[in-house]
Amino acid sequence: MEFQRHVILTGFMGSGKSTVGELVAQKFHVPFYDIDQEVVNSTGMTIPDIFSREGESSFRQHEVDALRDALNHERSSIISTGGGIITTEYGRQTLKQANAHVVWLEVDFETAKARVGEDPNRPLFQDVKKAHELFRARQCHYRRTARFVVDASKNTPEEIAEHFDTYL
Ligand code: S3P
Repeated sequence: MEFQRHVILTGFMGSGKSTVGELVAQKFHVPFYDIDQEVVNSTGMTIPDIFSREGESSFRQHEVDALRDALNHERSSIISTGGGIITTEYGRQTLKQANAHVVWLEVDFETAKARVGEDPNRPLFQDVKKAHELFRARQCHYRRTARFVVDASKNTPEEIAEHFDTYL
């Protein structure tokens, strides 16, 4: 099955975007772009290195550029974004203007925290209190930019991928 449009997954760290994206790509035989990975490939740096050497705003620019590149591919794909894609106007406009289905994997904070654990690769989840503040501040942006919402606390990534076509 080909997708009619690109599908973009959004959601907080730990919502399962990369896992769902990979599983959906396998199941529906569509290309998969993981924006965090695309940024690592294009810059040759790890995410913590980009944050510490160039700063968060530079990372934000890289990630939206990578999203735009992925959207430019003619063949429809599934695209997993980083959890902070909605934090800049540039990112939000890109999501709104994309000819794509934007799917928010909505997760509660406790589930996200349990899944992320102590991952050194996520500079913005090193302090749980700060991560919780980010989580609260971002909810409205995930809600406003998405057309579809999937409960990613109740459903595992495997379950979401299994029924993915019914969400669109
Ligand atoms: C970030 C989420 C990460 C990654 C970076 C910043 C964020 O991606 O892009 O560490 O600001 O929420 P995941 O959502 O895939 O963890």
